[in-house]
Amino acid sequence: MVNLRTVQAHNAALKSLAPGIVAVFVGGTSGISLSTALAVARHTSSPKIYLIGRSQIAADTAIASMKTINPSAQPTFLQTDISLLKNVDSVCAEIAAKEKRLNLLFMTPGYLTLKGRDETAEGLDRKLVLHYYARMRFVANLLPLLTAAAQDASVDANARLSRVVSVLDPHVSVRAGGSGTLDFSDLSLKHTFSLNKCGAHASLMGDFFLEGMAQRHPHTSFVHTYPSGVATGVMRELPLGRVLSAVLKPLLSTFLVPVQESGERHLFAATSGRFPPKAEGDGVQGDVAVGSNGTKGSGCYWVSWDGEVFPANEKLEKTRGEDAVVKVVQHTEEVFKRVCDEGKTYP
Ligand SMILES: NC(=O)c1ccc[n+]([C@@H]2O[C@H](COP(=O)([O-])OP(=O)(O)OC[C@H]3O[C@@H](n4cnc5c(N)ncnc54)[C@H](OP(=O)(O)O)[C@@H]3O)[C@@H](O)[C@H]2O)c1
Repeated sequence: MVNLRTVQAHNAALKSLAPGIVAVFVGGTSGISLSTALAVARHTSSPKIYLIGRSQIAADTAIASMKTINPSAQPTFLQTDISLLKNVDSVCAEIAAKEKRLNLLFMTPGYLTLKGRDETAEGLDRKLVLHYYARMRFVANLLPLLTAAAQDASVDANARLSRVVSVLDPHVSVRAGGSGTLDFSDLSLKHTFSLNKCGAHASLMGDFFLEGMAQRHPHTSFVHTYPSGVATGVMRELPLGRVLSAVLKPLLSTFLVPVQESGERHLFAATSGRFPPKAEGDGVQGDVAVGSNGTKGSGCYWVSWDGEVFPANEKLEKTRGEDAVVKVVQHTEEVFKRVCDEGKTYP
């Protein structure tokens, strides 16, 4: 476990980095993303922070807190519903028009639900879009800006930051006896949807897509984290979710990671040299994490709430052995081509 003092010391030292890091927080109006954005404001100089979500009221409150913590912070709210990939494309175009580089893409959008398949106008399940397709579309669209940050000649080479963090759970598909398998014949779950499969597919496709990106884009690192239990707004779309949340929070508080600690720990995951891109991690000695494919410094890391990477898992290795990286990347690019490039529904 990376203890909290180590995390805090690392974060406190971020002020010595070049000022003006640019960070995008998808799902930044609440919970873990907001808490991490506030940690960026607390620990860095003149950060440019983009918050993406739907709630103007939550964003106004978040921006006021950020300006109080750090008057040099430059927060901007981009309001959009990203359950449609066309909205993801528009908001990414807006960011690309304003910024030449992006240091951190941090993503948490999602919600708990008891509903079955909930199809969007683009033919995809809404929950699977928020937990997987929209996130990966942000990655695909913003990679040129992330690459520009990795090559930023105005910043000392060892102080450069180009990182993607997706917060969900890399191991949800193998918890509680789960099989850790993907249904390659129905990756979008058009025909075989269940909430269980949706959770497993979102997690596994995120695992393997990010692993594929780390191979293709060796100057950016890719981190998929499990936050553990954190008292946030994640239950708000359940029937009586806000009431349930208010009742459960005090009862479970000893088992939950406090939201501010989660933000500090996620800032560590988002900036620590333990998780270098492949180009820097290859053959490096010292405190570098083992990547998701078992190679130290591979550029893709599956990280638990405490800052340690998950140990190898036999079921996930078996799924990787079925050519999961190639099949998931191919499927995702096919969805993007059909929905985003051709404007059709999937399939
Ligand atoms: N909290 C936990 O205990 C826990 C445990 C394991 C895994 N996770 C996972 O970690 C992630 C983050 O959780 P959290 O607790 O931080 O969640 P949260 O507090 O509910 O935050 C979710 C964010 O997603 C945004 N969002 C939801 N639907 C959206 C949409 N259609 N368009 C744009 N933005 C949307 C929300 O903003 P708006 O409402 O403004 O749109 C909000 O900012 C989630 O994927 C969750 O499943 C959480």
